[in-house]
Amino acid sequence: MTMHASIVNADVASIQKAAILLAEGKLVAFPTETVYGLGADATNDRAVAAIYAAKGRPQFNPLIIHVANPEALDGLIEWNETARLLAAQFWPGPLTLVLPRKKSCPVSLLASAGMDTLAVRIPSHPVAKQLLEAVKRPIAAPSANASGKLSPTTPIHVAESLYDKVDLILAGGKSQVGLESTVLNLTSTRPAILRPGGITREQLEKILGPIDIVSVAENTSLMSPGMLASHYAPNLPLRLNAMQAESDEGFLTFGPDILAKGGAQRLNLSPQGDLSEAAANLFTMLRQLDQSQLRGIAVMPIPNIGLGVAINDRLNRAAVR
Ligand code: TXA
Ligand code: MG
Repeated sequence: MTMHASIVNADVASIQKAAILLAEGKLVAFPTETVYGLGADATNDRAVAAIYAAKGRPQFNPLIIHVANPEALDGLIEWNETARLLAAQFWPGPLTLVLPRKKSCPVSLLASAGMDTLAVRIPSHPVAKQLLEAVKRPIAAPSANASGKLSPTTPIHVAESLYDKVDLILAGGKSQVGLESTVLNLTSTRPAILRPGGITREQLEKILGPIDIVSVAENTSLMSPGMLASHYAPNLPLRLNAMQAESDEGFLTFGPDILAKGGAQRLNLSPQGDLSEAAANLFTMLRQLDQSQLRGIAVMPIPNIGLGVAINDRLNRAAVR
């Protein structure tokens, strides 16, 4: 089968090869601790355009720029004190900061969708780190899935939607966090979460004091044009906050589920009720329940605290038709 022909295990040689492909303007999917990314040289307009084409992504949705270390951002964005503080605390890790773009920033304007800000992140996955160190240039990387669909947390997920559109898939196991990074806007008067993700509001507020969470409606129109309401969607309709499932529904449960009834097939995000375990399993289990012989997927309520906020954000978007 040719389908998985482009998946290679990440090692020194394949990471080197991936870095060369990226420098040539090719697309490389690579693991991060949040989800797999579809990477391209952020300074190459054609390579960035190829990302939008491969994903079928609306061009107004800007991309996150990945680098290996804070110094690599000096030529790209205007640092401020808050950004320094958060970088020291949470990088490398699942946090994306939106900062003013430097006038001399070499990143393609297509990557930031013509805005004068730039979303930047330093991932912690060792393969991402080694790749970014080897390529020595900023890498634009959205999640490596067709636009609007479920994000990939394994190399097989990437192959399922992009195998003929990507030049290489670096395999580095299952993404540990399982949800995208938290996107935090630092260009507003008060820091504002544009997308809940792997770093919780509580973690950020410990450092920053009270911060805003921008609602989906506000987000869609202004701040983060990419935050389309419908997103992260399986093919089947989702029914949220369900305590029981029909015989033709898949059932995604959470915590002790002995009292939850029904479902043609049942998967538990975390029998112990652990929100990080649930986040790590979310996209994989939604994929597993997304079967053509079923009518829909029922989902048990998830507590809206900590990582539960990001989980509910993805579920709410996936439920929009
Ligand atoms: O965890 C992640 O962030 C993953 C991995 C691969 O790093 N990447 C990811 O990228 O989720 P993507 O393209 O699927 O999501 C990027 C989000 C979008 O919601 C987009 O609107 C927002 O970041 N964004 C990007 N640039 C922005 C900017 N300048 N201002 C506001 N929002 C921005
Ligand atoms: Mg995405």
